[in-house]
Amino acid sequence: MSGSTIIPWVVGNWKMNPLQANAEQLIHDLKQCFSQVEISAQSCHVGVAPVSIALLNVQDQLRGSMINTVAQDVSRIAGLGAYTGEVSAELLSDSGIQFVLVGHSERREIFSDTAEVVKEKVKNALSAGLTVIYCVGESLEQREKGHAEQVVLQQICDIAAIVQAEKWQKIIIAYEPIWAIGTGKTASPEDAQTMHAKIREGLSQITAEGKNIAILYGGSVKPENAVELAACPDIDGALVGGASLNAESFYQIAQAFAKTK
Ligand code: 13P
Repeated sequence: MSGSTIIPWVVGNWKMNPLQANAEQLIHDLKQCFSQVEISAQSCHVGVAPVSIALLNVQDQLRGSMINTVAQDVSRIAGLGAYTGEVSAELLSDSGIQFVLVGHSERREIFSDTAEVVKEKVKNALSAGLTVIYCVGESLEQREKGHAEQVVLQQICDIAAIVQAEKWQKIIIAYEPIWAIGTGKTASPEDAQTMHAKIREGLSQITAEGKNIAILYGGSVKPENAVELAACPDIDGALVGGASLNAESFYQIAQAFAKTK
């Protein structure tokens, strides 16, 4: 147990997975794992982020469990209207979804979500009352050039202008070095801790809430490295990709944070 008052968060980002039959099995297994008494919502917050077409079904099936349902993305357009293919923050909120990932590096890199677009998404999500898991992280090239901190702090600054003082409590940061995502390469706990401490320092300069904002680590988090990561004072949880598609692995990661923090 550390002295921090932040309750850790462990979120599974299912990305564009799995097929429906496998999702049914995964949810069944998750419910079974998380019904064990070792973890409670007081020791660790838990969420899973399914594909958008499955959000309501997953939410329905997880009702009564401690697992929250998280959207993977939100439209940069607010409200309702003629915007084919889009899902706005208001629609998510109207469906009872309270959490959303914004700025994932896959959105920024593959779908050209610029800093401006990401900002609009954060703004809309907060206006609709959602909690935003705001993803930041540097590429390998940026790290090798020694620009990692500058890139990440700039991504934090990008949203500073649009997050009103009282809304910082609705922000969770996820630091995901792009070179560690899906590669099996994890940032060393020391490197991750160093970046998390910088992020905490940056946040504290922006808002009095800085010390209370959860900063999650993402990038090849597995049961094998979760305990070490959880032991770092400024790592308040994990955003888990691949390993979250296996209920037992995901549970073990959550357990590592619930027990260590
Ligand atoms: P992996 O855990 O598969 O590396 O994915 C991390 C991630 O991108 C979570 O959002």
